[in-house]
Amino acid sequence: MRKHIVAGNWKMNNDLAQSELLITNLLRQNKTSDAEVMIAPTFTNLKQAFESLKDNTIEVIAQNMHFAENGAYTGEISAAMLKSVGVKTVILGHSERRAYFNETDATLAKKVDAALANDMRIIFCFGEELQDRKSDNHEAVVEGQIKNALFHLEADAFKDIVLAYEPVWAIGTGETASPEQAQDMHAFIRKTLADKYGSAVADSVSILYGGSVKPANAKEIFGKPDVDGGLIGGAALNAEDFFAIVNAF
Ligand code: G3H
Repeated sequence: MRKHIVAGNWKMNNDLAQSELLITNLLRQNKTSDAEVMIAPTFTNLKQAFESLKDNTIEVIAQNMHFAENGAYTGEISAAMLKSVGVKTVILGHSERRAYFNETDATLAKKVDAALANDMRIIFCFGEELQDRKSDNHEAVVEGQIKNALFHLEADAFKDIVLAYEPVWAIGTGETASPEQAQDMHAFIRKTLADKYGSAVADSVSILYGGSVKPANAKEIFGKPDVDGGLIGGAALNAEDFFAIVNAF
């Protein structure tokens, strides 16, 4: 049975006081589902988030990291640094990193290797842009993103990898992929994995959907057989909304 996961990506939101307030509100929520819950605050709030959540099952994760262990990379954060504050899971390949910070499949392959070498779990994001879907090229784009960044790995590595399909046109736009579009793509992703690594590996990997998931649409999206959870942006900034999504499982 695959894990259900709901992860909140706070992106570049919440200063320290706002982060504390949101965590206080998260701690007031009632969890009724079997989903693993994660939040990804900004780097500056990680330590405080760990302290505030130390007696709770909500996992604190990071939004990004660099592939080098240390060195002259001004403004960057290494896996070792994340581990030193307690981070065990990192989001890699988010479309905003790809679009605004020029992260390529090749860079991401290096980040994936660095995270795994540091025994970290990865939520690996990918997804097509609107023009790719309009030109019916969305499956080829997604297949390329997965193959280029992950298919150099041995099958065993996938025990530490969660995939997150996020169609770029659905991120922060209020426009969600329909549950059928999400299911079709998730099934395609699983088949892509199965063709390379076999169905046992493909069936064990959790595949999250991200892109304008809200309390109103979460249940229908999570009801699809190949959708194992969500990567939530905007709705993760409100504790009630976030837990309504968590509890949609
Ligand atoms: O990482 C989260 C995704 O980019 C989704 O963001 O829920 O605001 O559309 P959103």
